[in-house]
Amino acid sequence: MAPSKLNGCKIPDKRTVPHIIERKGSDKPLVALTSYDYTSAKLIDAAGEVDIILVGDSLVSVVQGHPNTLPVELEEIGYHTRCVVRGVVHALVIADMPFMSYQISPEQALENAGYLMKQAGAHAVKLEGGRSMQTTISRLVQVDIPVCGHIGLTPQSYHRMGGHRLQGRSTSANRAQTTATEVIEDALAVEEAGAFALVLEGIPAELAEQITERISIPTIGIGAGPACDGQILVINDLLGLQPDFAPRFVKRYRELGTEIMNAVSEYANEVRSHTFPAAKHSVYEDTSKKVRLAKQ
Ligand code: KIV
Repeated sequence: MAPSKLNGCKIPDKRTVPHIIERKGSDKPLVALTSYDYTSAKLIDAAGEVDIILVGDSLVSVVQGHPNTLPVELEEIGYHTRCVVRGVVHALVIADMPFMSYQISPEQALENAGYLMKQAGAHAVKLEGGRSMQTTISRLVQVDIPVCGHIGLTPQSYHRMGGHRLQGRSTSANRAQTTATEVIEDALAVEEAGAFALVLEGIPAELAEQITERISIPTIGIGAGPACDGQILVINDLLGLQPDFAPRFVKRYRELGTEIMNAVSEYANEVRSHTFPAAKHSVYEDTSKKVRLAKQ
C-alpha cells in the first residue's frame, strides 16, 4: 500500500500487531510514545515515525496530577483511548489496563480488555506483571486480544516497591526488589503466555539486553538501556512539559513547559497593555458588517 498523507505529512502504512512482531531483532528499533488526547495523538501520528501509541495509565500522573498510577479508572482509560484513536491513522494504539481491572481473575481481565478493544477502539492492551499474570495473558490471547506485557519497574506495584524503584539489581530475593533471575523468569512467562511485545522498565541495561536476546517477542525499553528492540517515552517528558521532572532515563527533546509559560506571560502582558486584541483580531473589524450582524 502506498503511504497516505495527512495535512502534508507523509504517513507510512498502518502498523499492526504482526508488523510489530516482525520488527523483533530488526536494526530499525520500534518507536513508541504515550498519548492521551486527540490533538497530541494526531500530531504524533502525523510525524510519520511512531509505530506504537500507548494510552498509558501514566495519564493519572501527567493529566490528573496524582503521585502514582493506582487511582486511574477503566472508564478514564476508555475515554482517553477513544480520543486518541480518533487522531491516529498509522500507529498501533495500545490501551493500558488500570490497577485492579485485571488482577482479580482472568475473566475480569477478559471483560475489561474486551471493553477497551470494543467500546474504546484499542488495537491491543498492556498489563503489568510476569509470572503472576501468565494465566491472565493466555486467557486474553486465546480470544485474540493482543497483549503487551510490562515487567521490571511496574508502577502499579508502587507501594510494594516503596516508590518507583529500579528492579532486577538485588542479588537476594526481597519483596521490594526483584532479582535479575526473577525478571528473566517474568519475561519468559509473558512470552510463553503469548504476548506480542514486552515493556521492560527500570532495569539494568545488561539485563534488558540479556532478555532481548533470549525472548522471541520485541522488547520495548524505558529506563532499560539501548539494547531493547524499541523504546518508549511519556510524551510530556519528551516535550519537557513538566520542567521540574527530570529523571535520568528521560531525554527532553524540547522545553515546551518553559515555552508555554513564556507564551502565557506574553499573552497576559499584551492583554494588560491593550496590545491584544489588535484590529486584525476583531470579528467586527468591518463596521458595515457589525451593523448588519446587529440587525439580524
Ligand atoms: O503508563 C505508561 O505511560 C507506561 C509507559 C511508561 C511504559 O506504562
